Amino acid sequence: MDIIRTSDYEEMSRKAADLMEAQLREKPDCVLGLATGSTPVGTYRELVRRAREGLLHFSKAKTVNLDEYVGLPPENEQSYRYFMQKNLFDWVDIKRENTFVPDGMAKDLPKACGEYEALIRSLKGIDLQLLGIGHNGHIGFNEPGEVFEKETHLVNLSERTIKANARFFSSPDEVPRQAVTMGILSIMRARKILLLASGAQKAKIVKEAFFGPITPKVPASVLQLHPAVTLIADAEALKECDLV
Ligand code: GLP
Repeated sequence: MDIIRTSDYEEMSRKAADLMEAQLREKPDCVLGLATGSTPVGTYRELVRRAREGLLHFSKAKTVNLDEYVGLPPENEQSYRYFMQKNLFDWVDIKRENTFVPDGMAKDLPKACGEYEALIRSLKGIDLQLLGIGHNGHIGFNEPGEVFEKETHLVNLSERTIKANARFFSSPDEVPRQAVTMGILSIMRARKILLLASGAQKAKIVKEAFFGPITPKVPASVLQLHPAVTLIADAEALKECDLV
């Protein structure tokens, strides 16, 4: 695992954009796995800036997002499709038909999960998967549990996640109770993984995930087994880790 320590959120975002830009230059038709949440917003902002200056092109790239809330249509401002449009897709030269987000409105959700997994396979897998981390160690919406959930599946969100994500909604009651998420195996199949963490509130979980035991109780800990993981975190998020 590579660990890149940055002084703050802005530097973390620039370094993450550097790695994504390198991926796009090396393979313009790459498949990028994308994440939502507040952590990658600065990275997307930086990618948009570079794209608008003509330094970066997404015209051949494809994207697959990690997760989506159940029951929120794409035009709902809290849906992850809406988030991706507003933070990245609307501002760069990516083709809408090359961007994929799980369908949280599907009538048959288990079937839609299988189809999403088949879609990732048909794209020949993910070249670079971007991840944030939840306070309880979730990646995508893979919540702590007794086993590592494998492929794209329907999940009941934990109380802790509902509470954490309530900040984006007008009340906790509005936070959907379920989501569709890529599974741990879907994520682990990505050729490269880039996890971002910022701020003191992530310090404890970053230490547990990257320096603690590998356990489904801390889903992100499985990343210790991946051969090409880069953690980019700011000093606050790394403050509990003993790094030389
Ligand atoms: C959500 C998303 C995750 C994200 C996590 C952390 O629950 N499903 O993909 O990593 O929140 O969010 P934040 O970056 O806002 O701390």
